[in-house]
Amino acid sequence: MEKKNQETMKLWQRNRFGMFIHWGIYALPARHEWVKSREQISDADYQKYFDHFYPDLYDPAEWADYCKKAGMKYVVLTTKHHDGFCLWDTKLTDWKVTNTPWGKDLLRPYVDAFRAAGIRIGLYHSIIDWHHPHYTTDRTHPRRDCEEHKAGDANRDMGIYAEYLRGQVSEILTDYGEIDMIFFDFSISDPDNPGKYQKGRNEWQSEKLVKTCRELQPGILINDRLDLQEFDWGWDFTTPEQFMLRKCPVDGKGNPIPWETCQTFSGAWGYHRDENTWKSTEQLLKMLIDTVSKGGNLLLNVGPTGRGEFDYRAKDRLLGMGEWMDTHARSIYGCTQAPDDIAAPQDCRLTWNPETKRLYVHIFSWPPTGELYIEGLGGKVKYAQLLHDASEVLENPRAKWQQKWELATESTYTMKLPIRKPNCIVPVVELFLD
Ligand code: GLC
Repeated sequence: MEKKNQETMKLWQRNRFGMFIHWGIYALPARHEWVKSREQISDADYQKYFDHFYPDLYDPAEWADYCKKAGMKYVVLTTKHHDGFCLWDTKLTDWKVTNTPWGKDLLRPYVDAFRAAGIRIGLYHSIIDWHHPHYTTDRTHPRRDCEEHKAGDANRDMGIYAEYLRGQVSEILTDYGEIDMIFFDFSISDPDNPGKYQKGRNEWQSEKLVKTCRELQPGILINDRLDLQEFDWGWDFTTPEQFMLRKCPVDGKGNPIPWETCQTFSGAWGYHRDENTWKSTEQLLKMLIDTVSKGGNLLLNVGPTGRGEFDYRAKDRLLGMGEWMDTHARSIYGCTQAPDDIAAPQDCRLTWNPETKRLYVHIFSWPPTGELYIEGLGGKVKYAQLLHDASEVLENPRAKWQQKWELATESTYTMKLPIRKPNCIVPVVELFLD
C-alpha cells in the first residue's frame, strides 16, 4: 500500500503541540471514561447518561480559542470512545448524540470551529466497542464477569463488527473535509500470551481499515494501535501514552521514528470531577519541551464537562502554557533534537531548528552564578540572546585563575547569564550557530 502523506507528516512534526479532547456521555458520571468497564455497568444502567446528555454550554469556537491561545496547532477529538457512543449523526447505529436530549450533531460544529481558527483536524476513533451487539466479550468489557453475556459470544460475529467499524470510519473520513490524522484505540494484548493479541489485526480487519483510510484521505496519518507494527503501510507514528520517553525511538536501522506522546492534565481522559492529581503549568511546559528535545510531539488532553465546558483547571493550564508560548514558540515549532555532538548542559533541554540553525537552551533550573556552559560549541556561536526579550547573552570564557580547578577546553562555550532568573517559567537562550 502506497503512502502519500509525507506533506502531512512534515507539517504535523513541525507543529509539535496538539490538543486531545475526550468527550462523550461518560462526562456525566464524571468518574473516568472507563467507568462503564471499571464499575461493570450494564447497558440498561448506563442508559441514564444517554438520556440526560444535554451539553448546553458547548461552544467549539471557545474551545478552539483556548487551543490556539495555548499554542496548540492541531486537535484530535473522540468521535467514539470504548462505550460506543457516537458524537456524530452516523447512519449505522442509534447509539448517537442525535438521539439524546441534545439531539444535534457535535462533530460538524467542532470541525468547522477549529478549522476556522486555523487548527488542523484529527479524529480519535475507538476500535473497542462495549455497545455493539456483535462485539465479543474481552478483558476490557463491562460484562466480562457475566456468564450469560459471555455465553452470547457464540452468536456474535466480529466480522459484522469489523464492517460496522469500517462503515463508520468511512463516514467520518468522507463527510468532514480534510482530516490530517486518525487515532485508533486500541488492540488488546493477551496477558497470558506475551506479544499476542486478544483482539488485533484479524478482529478489526486492520488491513482493510487502513486501506479505507488511505483511499478516502490520501494525506492522512494513522497511529500505531491496529496491530500492524511490522508493516510500513500499517502506521505512521508511534504513541507512548502517559509516560516520558528517555530518548527518541529508532527503527532497526537506527533511524528516528515519528512519535507523539499523549498525556493528561490529571489521571483521566474524560472529565473526572474528583481527580485531583493535576500537573502544574510548569510540569506541563517541561513535558512539552522534553518531548520536542527528543524529536516528538505532545498531544495534551482536555476532558470537557457534561455541559460542554473545559474544566477551570484545564483553562488555567492552557492559558499558562500559552503565555510562555507567546514568547517561546520559536523553540518548539519546527524544532527537534539537537545534533548528537552537542550535549545538553546540566538541568537543561536542547531543541534545534535545522532550517535556521538555531539551538535553544531551555534552562529548567537557573544556574546559581548565572554561568552556563556547553561542551562542543566553543567557537561555533555567532550570536546569543535570551529568547523572551531578545537581550544579548555574552560569552564568558574561564579566567586564567579558574583554570586551577577546571580546565576549560577550546570546545567549551560559556555564557554569562543574569544572576536573577528572568520572569518566565522556563527561560530559553537562543544560539545562532554557524
Ligand atoms: C487508552 C485508554 C483511553 C484513552 C486513550 C488515549 O488506551 O483506553 O481511555 O482514550 O488511551 O490514548
